[in-house]
Amino acid sequence: MNYTNLLTELNDGILTVTVNRPKALNALNRQTFSDLKQLFETDAHQIEGLKGIIITGAGERAFVAGADISEFDGLTTETAKALSKRGQDIFRAIETFPKVVIAAVNGFALGGGCELAMACHLRVASEKARFGQPEVNLGIIPGYGGTQRLIRLIGKSKATELLLTADMIGGLEAAHLGLANYVVPHGEEVLKATAIIKKIARKAPIAIAQTLECIDAYYDKNVDGFQKEVESFGFCAETEDFVEGASAFMEKRRATFKGK
Ligand code: COA
Repeated sequence: MNYTNLLTELNDGILTVTVNRPKALNALNRQTFSDLKQLFETDAHQIEGLKGIIITGAGERAFVAGADISEFDGLTTETAKALSKRGQDIFRAIETFPKVVIAAVNGFALGGGCELAMACHLRVASEKARFGQPEVNLGIIPGYGGTQRLIRLIGKSKATELLLTADMIGGLEAAHLGLANYVVPHGEEVLKATAIIKKIARKAPIAIAQTLECIDAYYDKNVDGFQKEVESFGFCAETEDFVEGASAFMEKRRATFKGK
């Protein structure tokens, strides 16, 4: 796996992806989006024994400080719409990834950075994290799902306030609002994300993937989430892992899941 603006490290089945443009506070330029697309639409699906993915930012100050503003020059309605759609599709590939994806938010998570964190399944924030959607300061709006996912995560009232005021909030408040799952001392966010992935990796992989699909179905206006749950429940019932999980419980031993 070779990328221009991403560093990747695979350790014990956990892939850590670091957005690596620290001089621009890891702002997402077109190349970084291409790298994320290649990773989440293709490469990561081919990693044998992958347990989960952590996304974080290089340097001491930022997770990702938004879309790269220097690339906004000369946008037209048509090119802006294409940019927005492309970003949304790439973030959707993260949201629908079958293994857990966790954002380890080590600093500024603004604009596209907050949207990237929200496309992940879970978020661990450092005490120094700063979340916000400052687009209206620039005369634009979030284009990578921010107006939708922020409401899903924290509710309409507070999301409306943050989207309209462009206020930044710290890790503690993000955790209080449910935007971050955890807030930890600065520097411990990847460690905490690793611990969460290790815990999830002890569960049945097919059940985990089906659970992620069911959660996603809740937000899909074209899908009946309860029916999706019925289907997924049925699908899990015929897996070897279900036989193993139920047998292990009855035999009072720890289950060994194979993802089959
Ligand atoms: N796009 C492009 N470059 C960015 C950037 C972005 N979103 N965010 C930061 N940078 C660059 C700055 O231009 C600066 O580059 P320079 O050193 O070549 O001048 C460098 O990163 C450091 O940022 P700087 O603004 O000097 O740091 P600061 O500590 O004064 O402020 C922020 C930090 C995050 C508050 C500020 O950089 C900021 O507001 N960034 C934009 C956030 C934003 O609006 N994101 C949404 C975009 S749609």
